[in-house]
Amino acid sequence: MIRESNLLDFSGLISKSPKMESIFDLIDKVAATASTVLIIGETGSGKELVARSIHTKSNRIDEPFITINCAALSETLLESELFGHERGAFTGAFSRKHGLFEVAHGGTIFLDEIVEMSPMVQTKLLRVLETRSFRRVGGTDTIKVDVRLLVASQEDLREAVLKGTFRNDLYYRLSTITVMIPPLRERKGDIPYLTDHFLDKLAEAHDKPRATVSQDVLDIFSTYGWPGNVRELENVMERAFVLSSNGVLTVDDLPAKFRTMERVRTVDGLPSLEDVKKKHVLTVLKTVRGNKTKAARILGVDRKTLYRMMRNWKIELNVE
Ligand SMILES: Nc1ncnc2c1ncn2[C@@H]1O[C@H](COP(=O)(O)OP(=O)(O)OP(=O)(O)O)[C@@H](O)[C@H]1O
Ligand SMILES: [Mg+2]
Repeated sequence: MIRESNLLDFSGLISKSPKMESIFDLIDKVAATASTVLIIGETGSGKELVARSIHTKSNRIDEPFITINCAALSETLLESELFGHERGAFTGAFSRKHGLFEVAHGGTIFLDEIVEMSPMVQTKLLRVLETRSFRRVGGTDTIKVDVRLLVASQEDLREAVLKGTFRNDLYYRLSTITVMIPPLRERKGDIPYLTDHFLDKLAEAHDKPRATVSQDVLDIFSTYGWPGNVRELENVMERAFVLSSNGVLTVDDLPAKFRTMERVRTVDGLPSLEDVKKKHVLTVLKTVRGNKTKAARILGVDRKTLYRMMRNWKIELNVE
């Protein structure tokens, strides 16, 4: 099923991969509830987009959607951002400050990088979840709030629980509903759709005609590992769009590390030995469904050599 038709409903989330499809279904189901949702995914994989989409699909759509990154603030700053403070609560607290939990009343708070939250703030957050109320720093009044909490992390929070840096009880409260966003390298089938989407977006943002992408670029996009996920793809495309001439994004418009991945061709258009080798290694890897031991045996090299070749040629396996 193609979701592009209801783009707006999902805040611009594009995907056709089966794994993402189940995420769309989950978003639909949880949006209407007040449940806390834990969103896990690598950097740039779309965590904030998923959070926005849950908010937009909920009946809180006309209320605030507030995001805050727990890694960006010190413990005391985060505490007073979230819960506010009374005048004189600490040096520099010259006046009362309303916390984001008050500001977001009726709406949604999205707490990014939740794993970075200090134990003290975790304890306060747990109390808000349990009692739906809190006190400002230095205050005595109990303030009731109706806020939906969405949280995100790049890593599985269970590891932080095991390490003892994240409260177990808070983890259970937060993780009732967990959305795991697969990294882009595990859903490479999405790349052509995302590429198309970003071509539209770029044309509109720059008020220029829509560009196209050369086949070489698409080939490179599908071999690259995308450690920065969808954001990296978007950035690479924006750069290429700006540098490109005559409306086609070519390999020359990509950053240097991508250009070295280009198939080296001779003047006759025949592939180079390097090119043939790379293609063959890829074919073998695909045939054995990514089993490197088997691939190495077929190729007659040891695993180390195979790994080195994969690294040099930036071969990332899509084991979807
Ligand atoms: N499935 C998608 N469809 C369209 N655009 C996407 C998709 N996923 C991510 N993006 C775009 O990629 C960029 C990064 O997404 P987002 O900010 O949601 O990622 P994130 O997981 O919150 O990243 P970080 O871990 O760095 O906070 C945004 O510009 C977003 O619009
Ligand atoms: Mg984010």
